[in-house]
Amino acid sequence: MLTTTASTTGRALLRLQSSARDCLGRRLASTAAAPPGVWTDSWRDGIVGTVGKTPLIRLQKASEVTGCNILAKAEYANCGGSVKDRAALFLIKDAEKKGLLKPGGTVVEGTAGNTGIGLAHICNAKGYKCVIYMPNTQSKEKIDMLRLLGAEVRPVPAVPFDNPENYNHQARRFAEATPNSVWTNQFDNTANRLAHYHTTGPEIWMQTNGKVDAFTCGTGTGGTLSGTGLFLKEKNPKIKVVLADPPGSVLFSWFKKDKLERTGDSSITEGIGQGRVTENLKGSKLDDAVHVPDSASVEWTYRLLHEEGIFVGASTGLNVAAAVEVAKSLPKGSTVVTILCDSGLRYQARLFNKEWLESKALYNAIPMAYRGSAL
Ligand SMILES: Cc1ncc(COP(=O)(O)O)c(C=O)c1O
Repeated sequence: MLTTTASTTGRALLRLQSSARDCLGRRLASTAAAPPGVWTDSWRDGIVGTVGKTPLIRLQKASEVTGCNILAKAEYANCGGSVKDRAALFLIKDAEKKGLLKPGGTVVEGTAGNTGIGLAHICNAKGYKCVIYMPNTQSKEKIDMLRLLGAEVRPVPAVPFDNPENYNHQARRFAEATPNSVWTNQFDNTANRLAHYHTTGPEIWMQTNGKVDAFTCGTGTGGTLSGTGLFLKEKNPKIKVVLADPPGSVLFSWFKKDKLERTGDSSITEGIGQGRVTENLKGSKLDDAVHVPDSASVEWTYRLLHEEGIFVGASTGLNVAAAVEVAKSLPKGSTVVTILCDSGLRYQARLFNKEWLESKALYNAIPMAYRGSAL
């Protein structure tokens, strides 16, 4: 009986292996049968081959309090440590395909940091130079990381998009003036959302066997929400796609009132919130939007750390707060999927620092029992 079960499982595994592909659409390398239950993705092709195929984690406590399955994609497991590695890879492949990037060329991007970190990893692996323009409000950890990867980092004052000195316009102008270089333009180049349409969405569909009722996450470029949402909607139009928005962003009011008005002043979350509708967000199929105050993002960041053992940044806190909100509006037993964007290590000096949180009047947002871990 045991032998039959094992060989049946073995045959199933072989079938799975022969059809399994990585995020570039290539067949996976493994060919040998593995014992049942053993992960068979034996090797991947360079660092580029490690982008995607991230675990989908059922959050135990968040699921318990809502009576739903709250599932979260562990995007910190990507090679550069964030959800933006998927976009970075597709933006570079897009530039290569269009002949805009030749061997030894330079990739230029305006980024809050995570896309830059993803680009810098892939540039090193592919032999490109990397120049990053970023608002000088971003965390030191992200700037240091970019520099140690060999990227040239140019922090610039954080000014709105309609100001010519905005980091994106500076990145574009630098690329235009530099031979054999490309501005990857993550906000308005829809190769970004295609990364999620072709990888994140299908992975979620496969990992849940198509049992998804809702998908929610915050938006910076909008690539993750839009691309994943478009794929899931194509598979099942009943899946609810919900925008999660921090204070200071105009997107909540854009969805609710068709007006680009900021809700609240500003947010301590990094990489999310927008002042405009990007090309990546345009045409996305949204069912609803939730506004998440920073107090809820901080609360869930600390709850994830202490109740689930998951150490992440505040944009993930916001995503899980939104997933809990969405779950409360659905029947018990529903499945809501969200994104674990990046690691808390990127924000240690701020988000996990008592003095800094107090300066933002957010220390008391940490549940009492967990306050000891703000150093
Ligand atoms: C930490 C973090 N979370 C979420 C996002 C949002 O992802 P997207 O640009 O796909 O909307 C970003 C984008 O930079 C980010 O850095």
